[in-house]
Amino acid sequence: MGQGTPGGLNRQGLPGDRKPDGSDKKEKKFEPAAPPARVGRKQRKQKGPDAASRLPGVTPHTKCRLRFLKLERVKDYLLMEEEFVSNQERLKPQEEKAEEDRSKVDDLRGSPMSVGNLEELIDENHAIVSSSVGPEYYVGILSFVDKDQLEPGCAILMHNKVLSVVGLLQDEVDPMVSVMKVEKAPLESYADIGGLDAQIQEIKEAVELPLTHPELYEDIGIKPPKGVILYGEPGTGKTLLAKAVANSTSATFLRVVGSELIQKYLGDGPKLVRELFRVADDLSPSIVFIDEIDAIGTKRYDAHSGGEREIQRTMLELLNQLDGFDSRGDVKVILATNRIDSLDPALLRPGRIDRKIEFPLPDIKTRRRIFQIHTSRMTLADDVNLEEFVMTKDEFSGADIKAICTEAGLLALRERRMKVTHPDFKKAKEKVMFKKKEGVPEGLYM
Ligand SMILES: Nc1ncnc2c1ncn2[C@@H]1O[C@H](COP(=O)(O)OP(=O)(O)OP(=O)(O)O)[C@@H](O)[C@H]1O
Ligand SMILES: [Mg+2]
Repeated sequence: MGQGTPGGLNRQGLPGDRKPDGSDKKEKKFEPAAPPARVGRKQRKQKGPDAASRLPGVTPHTKCRLRFLKLERVKDYLLMEEEFVSNQERLKPQEEKAEEDRSKVDDLRGSPMSVGNLEELIDENHAIVSSSVGPEYYVGILSFVDKDQLEPGCAILMHNKVLSVVGLLQDEVDPMVSVMKVEKAPLESYADIGGLDAQIQEIKEAVELPLTHPELYEDIGIKPPKGVILYGEPGTGKTLLAKAVANSTSATFLRVVGSELIQKYLGDGPKLVRELFRVADDLSPSIVFIDEIDAIGTKRYDAHSGGEREIQRTMLELLNQLDGFDSRGDVKVILATNRIDSLDPALLRPGRIDRKIEFPLPDIKTRRRIFQIHTSRMTLADDVNLEEFVMTKDEFSGADIKAICTEAGLLALRERRMKVTHPDFKKAKEKVMFKKKEGVPEGLYM
């Protein structure tokens, strides 16, 4: 052991001896790996001096080389950093753009909201609301909602989860009702109606005059009728007359078909009727035209199915609106049906629909006029004698006459003739009458 220790000492001593040969720093830094490394380095150094010999002699050679390496590494690092920064700048706009796009999409998509009804305002910041389905809630009103415009019954936007009021729906008109508004006047005018002079007169008195000259009725001291009902055989021009009224009037014209008022969900039908009359009131003076009223206005029998009951409720709402708890001076109603006998008497009793205007089948004079109207734009051959059809004993409605004219035109077209001849009309009439007797609706084949 004693020998061992001195040996160890010797080994340690050897580097210690070399200390004076090399520099102090070297000795500290490279101490642990000293013995093996030195061999390699010496070799390198041997190569190094070959290359370095050309360079001017820098005295602490190794030290400078180290610094050089260090600086080189710093340079590399800085280069990398520069590249990173430039890349960063190049990529940044893309990220921002993506962010912008994302916010745009978010704007478009909006935050999920639901539509509800404001039932009651509790205080400045709280209200009771009801959503379209389900119960009522006590919720907060967000600060940015214009509280002046909030009033019970108005439609509001609610937050999806917490249901607080986040907005107000200004235009709460049911989209269904806005569809019914006749924006573009129909093309048919009074001039397109053959005969029916008395009917035109009556509808003008009952519907147009009260809207344009209400003072006349006041002078005489009567209340103008609330509405009229047009009834008569199919194809006698009821819808046509209503269209002519819409064409000539400057009042708002709302058009509904009875079956449209039958809705899928319970309560929607009556609601639609209410909405319809409310809109009519808003846009007054206005005329509400309900075609084919028999869809909802049939007699009130004991209804068995829920659907029937719902239809009855719709009609009751209609009666209610016609009675108008609040007087609707500027709203006139035109109903049309071809089955007046099946209508509920309550709908027709005086005070609601006062004027019943019958549309009879056209007489000879009217027939002549209707033929004239419908053939006025056709090119007729010289041999056409319409009187033959005018004087016939068969019963024609206005629609039949129109069908005959169209059919005759089609027959001429089939043979590529430019003019419609008398035999065409004859054939057309036979065809139309035949179909009528068969009970096949002409429309099917037209
Ligand atoms: N008096 C008339 N003058 C001119 N054309 C008429 C006349 N009556 C009916 N017509 C023609 O018949 C067609 C159908 O008439 P309209 O749609 O008014 O029938 P309607 O009385 O409403 O029948 P429905 O009860 O089946 O609804 C009209 O497009 C029109 O061309
Ligand atoms: Mg009709």
